[in-house]
Amino acid sequence: MATRALVTGAGGFIGHHLVKHLVDQGYWVRGVDIKHPEYEPSPSHEFQLLDLRRFDNCLIATRGIDEVYHLAADMGGIGYITAFHAEIARNSAMINIHMLEAARINAAERFLFSSSACVYPMYLQKSPDVTNLKEDDAYPAEPEEGYGTEKLFMEELCKYYNEDYSFETRVVRFHNVYGPLGTYEGGKEKAPAAISRKLALANDGDEIEVWGDGEQTRSFMHVDDCVEGIYRIMRSDYPHPLNLGTDELVTINELVDMVAEISDKRITKRHDLSKPQGVRGRNSDNSRLREVLGWEPGIPLREGLTPTYRWIESELRTAGRVPQPA
Ligand SMILES: NC(=O)c1ccc[n+]([C@@H]2O[C@H](COP(=O)([O-])OP(=O)(O)OC[C@H]3O[C@@H](n4cnc5c(N)ncnc54)[C@H](O)[C@@H]3O)[C@@H](O)[C@H]2O)c1
Repeated sequence: MATRALVTGAGGFIGHHLVKHLVDQGYWVRGVDIKHPEYEPSPSHEFQLLDLRRFDNCLIATRGIDEVYHLAADMGGIGYITAFHAEIARNSAMINIHMLEAARINAAERFLFSSSACVYPMYLQKSPDVTNLKEDDAYPAEPEEGYGTEKLFMEELCKYYNEDYSFETRVVRFHNVYGPLGTYEGGKEKAPAAISRKLALANDGDEIEVWGDGEQTRSFMHVDDCVEGIYRIMRSDYPHPLNLGTDELVTINELVDMVAEISDKRITKRHDLSKPQGVRGRNSDNSRLREVLGWEPGIPLREGLTPTYRWIESELRTAGRVPQPA
């Protein structure tokens, strides 16, 4: 019989891609979210609209499930997560605590929690010349307020469930995921999608707004690498937190230049220093990931950005906001 997987957050960006991947691997998949995927129907075998802040709904979602891929969270880009600390921490804490307990009660075999690089201490991320972050660097803790603090607590809760109940948990710290079918406007979009939207809407020679001075550094992982990594980590027997990201470090200015090149438009940048820019520099140390999996994300940023930009451009073209090519 096919393994029965639950993907929470299946109406969201990574969750939707993960459902596709698991279905391709021959899994029976139940997707759960408070909304359907925005841009195409879910290929899951069953899709339930449930608010996972409620424990009774978490029990419904986890019934008869072998593997739980728990991605549902209240989250967005840097503008969103710095503006709504209470709401984000409260919503995600309720979802996480209830999901973990419901999965245990319904005897799921494995539970994977999608954590974030936002758990890493702010004091290690003050310079654009970063030292790549290793899993053990999370302590002494000084995570991103709200979103990161809540993720760190849930990581610990997974550890306690593993220790006290022998419940098989996996904890994955994603580093900036991008790709087609991700939110690209409305306030919850991340830098690659926001920049792609701005470029797609710009005319040759226009000025593009960039948040901060653009010298802040990050690494970005294509969503295909992300779902492959999730799948492999779930199969592994490693219960402790693992980074999942690339270590290809770029400044946001370089990211803008790459997208401009893909769009074939010459633009100038207008830096808005009043906008949130997050930590000054962050990169993933993949030593442990390589040790555990013998694998790491490998899609180069320039390569992954091209289909991402093209998809956003075609969405805006369909909406009549980008002119049809001559
Ligand atoms: N995208 C990234 O760069 C990134 C980086 C680090 C961590 N993560 C983590 O990965 C996971 C997936 O992220 P994503 O980028 O796909 O985000 P997303 O916002 O696209 O997906 C999250 C989904 O959770 C759903 N959700 C929110 N509240 C819910 C509720 N009460 N009940 C049921 N569903 C609810 C949302 O509707 C959304 O579809 C999240 O846990 C996120 O914190 C993502």
